[in-house]
Amino acid sequence: MTEAILLVGGKGTRLRPLTVNTPKPMVPAAGVPFLTHQLARARAAGVEHVVMATSYLAEVFEPYFGDGSQLGLHLEYVTEDEPLGTGGAIRNVASRLHSAPGDPVLIFNGDILTGLDIRALVDTHTGSGADVSLHLTRVDDPRAYGLVPTDDDGRVTAFLEKPQTPEEIVTDQINAGAYVFDRAVIDSIPLGRPVSVERETFPGLLSDGAHLQGMVDSTYWLDLGTPQAFVRGSADLVLGRAPSPAVPGRCGDRLVLGTADVAPDAKLTGGTVVGARAVVGSGARIDGSTVLDGAVVESGAEIRDSLIGAEARIGAGAVLDGAVIGDGAHVGEGNELRDGIRVWCDARIPAGAVRFSSDQ
Ligand code: GTP
Repeated sequence: MTEAILLVGGKGTRLRPLTVNTPKPMVPAAGVPFLTHQLARARAAGVEHVVMATSYLAEVFEPYFGDGSQLGLHLEYVTEDEPLGTGGAIRNVASRLHSAPGDPVLIFNGDILTGLDIRALVDTHTGSGADVSLHLTRVDDPRAYGLVPTDDDGRVTAFLEKPQTPEEIVTDQINAGAYVFDRAVIDSIPLGRPVSVERETFPGLLSDGAHLQGMVDSTYWLDLGTPQAFVRGSADLVLGRAPSPAVPGRCGDRLVLGTADVAPDAKLTGGTVVGARAVVGSGARIDGSTVLDGAVVESGAEIRDSLIGAEARIGAGAVLDGAVIGDGAHVGEGNELRDGIRVWCDARIPAGAVRFSSDQ
């Protein structure tokens, strides 16, 4: 049975302040830590043994997931003293793998939401005899990504870092953050120093003549690295657009966790999730948003495509659109917060202090 490594040690800087108190894979999406969806999907694909490579806020993973038996998995945790980067993290957990040289090992970035057919990736790997196989996805605007062109047989021909000019955009295929490595390739990564798998290991293997195989799978795919993407991904899980066996409830327009208290006339739409102990007041309207545990949304607030951190408070009549509110922050009534604003954890915004439009 194929085993897997999950890379969950990144600092998640693009997601701050969501990642001030919580590592990115533990931020709740559709009511459970995001990582739960990845673990459940791996289990559904037949994976039984997962090694988690942790670094940033490493101490929170094991108390939550334990030995993994609740998910039907055997989980192990390996923490880096200093962050080793993606490749260094993979090498650092090698001693915990049971696979022999020649066996395939799955590796997942801990911040990708995807409907990837995991078994098909393993089958592509074994069928092609590759040293490493990569899930590739197609994107409309590849400028923010590393491009991975392939030949007619799907064999990788280059790794091109973020293209700058139109001529450099030679393909719309990008590295989608899921790989199968031959076990022997993992052992060949240098031990004990930071290594980037994307910038060092893959280009190095290619120039050494190794066989890297790409598998384009264009099902649902989203990199949850930014706040807007994270909110989108959570809503897509609730709506059932992104597949996961771990959504705690039926998919639909909204997901309200058991101990939340939502006023009967509040309107929750577009895959909104309301976390445990959270309170939503009368007449509030929340669309495509995530309200984390213990947060309070007062009456008449209007919230779209936003994330409200744990124990945060949104005052009556406040308008939020594309906003991220850190854990424990208070947004006073009547504020208008828009377009990528990030309110830091425990900040206090007085009533009526911030607007993007006239108040009259
Ligand atoms: P940003 O800081 O916002 O770029 O996010 P990040 O730190 O998560 O980096 P990135 O998105 O490039 O990381 C891809 C995956 O590798 C994520 O799942 C990270 O958790 C993981 N990762 C990145 N760096 C390390 C590391 O040094 N150690 C370990 N164990 N995992 C890492």
